[in-house]
Order: sequence, then C-alpha cells, then structure tokens
Amino acid sequence: MITACEIQEMYRPAAVDFWRYPATQHLVRGGLSEQEVRTFIANVFRTHFTSPHILAFLYSSMPSHTSGLLRNNLLEELGLTGDGPAHPLLLLDLAEGAGFTKAELFQLMGESHDHIRRVCSGPLPFPTLQAFYLSVLLETEAFEFLLSRYAGPLGAALHTRYGLTRQAVCWFDLHAEADIRHAEEGLQVLADFLAFYRIGPDEFEKTRRATFQANVFLQRDFPEALSATPTPKLAETPLCGS
Ligand SMILES: [Fe+2]
Ligand SMILES: [Fe+2]
Repeated sequence: MITACEIQEMYRPAAVDFWRYPATQHLVRGGLSEQEVRTFIANVFRTHFTSPHILAFLYSSMPSHTSGLLRNNLLEELGLTGDGPAHPLLLLDLAEGAGFTKAELFQLMGESHDHIRRVCSGPLPFPTLQAFYLSVLLETEAFEFLLSRYAGPLGAALHTRYGLTRQAVCWFDLHAEADIRHAEEGLQVLADFLAFYRIGPDEFEKTRRATFQANVFLQRDFPEALSATPTPKLAETPLCGS
C-alpha cells in the first residue's frame, strides 16, 4: 500500500524544481518584463480556470468515504461554502488586474475550455478510465501541494514587484491558505482512491510515470521558457520509507 508520506515525497522534488527554476526565480525577484508577467498569468489562468469541473470529474470517481472531502473542495471552488467567492472569478480578477482586456479574458476562457474539449475528444491517454482518473487526481493533488507552499510568495511578488493590487492577487492568497488543508486532505483522497480501486504499487507506478514524465508545474506555468531550454525531468527521489 502506498502511504500518504510516500505520495508527499513524490511531489516534493518537482515542487522544489519549479521553485528553483530560473523563470520562477526571475518572477519572484522582479526580473520579468510586463509581457512575461502577463504570459505567466495567462498560463495560471488556463491551468486553473476549469478546476471546479475537474474536481467534479474526480468526485464522480469516488463513491467511497473520502468523497466528502472532494465535494467540500468542489463547493469551495464554486464559492458555495460562504468562505469566499468562486475561484474562477478570482482568476478573472487576476487577469484583469494584470491588464487583460475583456476580449482577452474571453479568449483565455475559451482556451481553458479548449483544453477540456481536446482531452475529452481524443483517444483516452490511458488503457482504462480508472487510470485516467488516477492521473488527473495525481496532477490535481500535485498542484494543491505546490500552491500550499508557493502560492503565498508568488502572489506577494506579483503585488510588491509588479504592482498588482491585493484584490488582483487574491487567488494566490486564498490558495496559500486553503491548499495547506487541501494538500493534507488530498493525501487521504489519493490513498483512499488506491484502496477503493485496489491499485497496487506496479499499477500506481505506471500511471505516476506517465503523468509526470516531465515537471507538470513548469509545463503548465512556464511552457514558453521550457520550450527554449531542455525539459527538467521530475527528480527521482526514493520514496519515503523505502
Ligand atoms: Fe481553487
Ligand atoms: Fe485547493
């Protein structure tokens, strides 16, 4: 059985690689041009704008005891828990604060939808729906892990170095706090998913490798920088306890 600790140790090297990546360091030190900041924000927008839909997809896979955690996470994303607005609205604030026009916002929303359309219209990238669910869950929880650690400094840099308002960077502030809990809960959800579908270490490893062939954080947030430099692979760190 894969433990929560092993799962956490799986994410850590990729998150550290993301943080140490030159483009990330330029961003937090104020070294990006206005256009590069807009590009980064557009990438964050495209990655996360449809997150309620992705959580709903994952919720459909989990009729077991941790599905309540996914449901609560989904309600938070939709702004239905009373703790804050829907997260996609905060992404609109972010993009607007970075100077995107209404037409550009519509374009970004369309590109986020395109991604779902493309994934759902092509052949399944895995032999079973269960493996596809697992891959989406692994990537979703990876971002909870990343944001729980680095959303705070990323939002702070956008505010202090590039002049975005506190309201504009609220998406980062909210995830810096909420994703500490989500990342913890995500470990339980993942462990429960593996138990529910009776996924053993070999099957898990196959899907993990396919999902994290390269650093997903850099692929999503800095694809332009990545295409100009060799792709850093996910660091292969021995799993905790092995
Ligand atoms: Fe969110
Ligand atoms: Fe979250």
